[in-house]
Amino acid sequence: MCGILGYSGDRQASDILLAGLARLEYRGYDSAGIAALDSGTIKIAKNKGRLKVLEDRINAGDKVPGTCGIGHTRWATHGAPSDVNAHPLWSDDMAVVAVHNGIVENYREIREMLAKHGYTFYSQTDTEAAVKLIDYYYKQEKSPLKAITRAIKDIQGSYCFVMLFKDCPNEVWGARKDLPLIAGQGEGESFLASDVSAILQETRQVYYLDNMEIVQLKKGDVRFFDGEGYATIKEITEVTWDSNAAEKGGFDHFMMKEMYEQARAVKDTFGAVYHSGKIELTEHGLTDEAIKDISQIYIIACGSAYHAGAVAQYVIEDLAGIPVRIDTASEFRYRNMPMDKKALAVIISQSGETADTLAAMRRAKENGIKTLAIVNVVGSTIAREADSVFYTMAGPEIAVATTKAYSAQLIACYAIALKFAHVRGKIDDAECERLIAEIQKLPEKIDDILDAKDVLQEIAKKFTRSKNAFYLGRNIDYAVAMEGSLKMKEISYLHSEAIAAGEMKHGPISLIEKGMLVAGIMTQKELCKKTASNMLESKSRGGYLLIVAMKGCDALKDEADFVFTIPETDEHFAASLAVIPLQLLGYYVAVARKLDVDKPRNLAKSVTVE
Ligand code: G6P
Repeated sequence: MCGILGYSGDRQASDILLAGLARLEYRGYDSAGIAALDSGTIKIAKNKGRLKVLEDRINAGDKVPGTCGIGHTRWATHGAPSDVNAHPLWSDDMAVVAVHNGIVENYREIREMLAKHGYTFYSQTDTEAAVKLIDYYYKQEKSPLKAITRAIKDIQGSYCFVMLFKDCPNEVWGARKDLPLIAGQGEGESFLASDVSAILQETRQVYYLDNMEIVQLKKGDVRFFDGEGYATIKEITEVTWDSNAAEKGGFDHFMMKEMYEQARAVKDTFGAVYHSGKIELTEHGLTDEAIKDISQIYIIACGSAYHAGAVAQYVIEDLAGIPVRIDTASEFRYRNMPMDKKALAVIISQSGETADTLAAMRRAKENGIKTLAIVNVVGSTIAREADSVFYTMAGPEIAVATTKAYSAQLIACYAIALKFAHVRGKIDDAECERLIAEIQKLPEKIDDILDAKDVLQEIAKKFTRSKNAFYLGRNIDYAVAMEGSLKMKEISYLHSEAIAAGEMKHGPISLIEKGMLVAGIMTQKELCKKTASNMLESKSRGGYLLIVAMKGCDALKDEADFVFTIPETDEHFAASLAVIPLQLLGYYVAVARKLDVDKPRNLAKSVTVE
């Protein structure tokens, strides 16, 4: 997500902050800002756009003097990229100034509470609510530590805050929950960063903050406190990575780092629409009346986003009982089909800039169809032009092969499916609550699967020289097979096809050769036995059967060459778990082939041409 920095020492903070933020630029951002405290005054400079623009505006830092400061590169989540929404954000009398990474899920409630105490708001961000909440408690407690401990008890969501208090010279404060914050120890100076790569030039002696921990920097003095405000003792760690590895958080590739960010992306995406025990889509243009009025859904997307849509088609039809038609955007834009004016077009795109997807969305709009975009990049063209937007909270994705954005798209689709099912009377309150609880358990299960990755690394070695692979499944499992197969072909260059298992006998089976990878996805209990027969037909022609099965789908446990079992979940949400071993398989085959995993040949992260 965003990049965060803090500094306290004897040097000019702006020099350290601008240099550190530059080292975080690779992550992608839309705005930048810094603040420094000097003789009881906090100066702030921030703008939409590149760090270079900021640097030039403040004459490389001269206009923001002070030896204690904070900095930020923003990746918008709440509020479009703009000067006013850029960080740092401040309380009205500038007593508290802060930068923030993450999502304050209950910012509306916090704003409402503060408004009753006379607070007003100048930005569209969730962060401003948190800054003013800290200010509200600071005014009562007169202590940054007490104000922070009280505020973090109220704040729901994931966050990392770094703050200045006007009346506390040389002090920088930080707090985190579910997002990283690292404190760096130097000689007579200290640092805070969301990413160790930002401070590695300055120090290799760091402390990793635990969840709900608070930190205070005062020049070379670094102190820690737990969520109740009690002092804690932490061990210092020496970072041995080079700066290249540090950017990737110690992982070999961004793709692996991003696979590990999936649990957080899933949690934050659901958290963005789940409020007070309910899925809330009114802000997305989906009031109960509007939902009841929709006659059918068109899903339009490209690549992995299309595959997320393919899962959604099965889930929405089964749960909500509403017809769903899915099209690749490049087909939809030129199809001369009669369009149903009461339909809802759901446009899925990580970047929000894909040329075909944008053109298809415009086509739907021209035909009077209401559009809802599921987009990751705030302020992107699709987000701006759609009638309403559901932002996924994956954060910037760097690897060309998407993982966390796809996982976040699935969650957005599940939320829509559940809301439609509930409002249209297809499921009752109890069933809705049960399914929500299943979604909330997904992040932990995703992490459990990732922790078992070594076994897939071993299996992947078998396919280093393979030329072809098939991925089979039925229903949701077929949709997952499409994404698994794409992951394999896009990064490992192994020719791979996803096939609806029942179609094997209509041609593809003639291509099976000895040792060829035939991956079967089996999470839908009723259909497992059917897919199993198709898999066995492949085995008897020499195929190597690799099964990704949900606990309980053990139709082929004796015949398969390898079975990877995923934890149990409601079958509607099984794609979120089944895709993880398939991402890992593609990744490890690419690694075994010594390929450029993050930047595969001929592919682009965002395809803005037709
Ligand atoms: C490219 C990317 C894919 C992505 C597709 C659609 O092909 O490599 O990872 O799924 O575009 O992109 P979008 O940004 O619209 O999701």
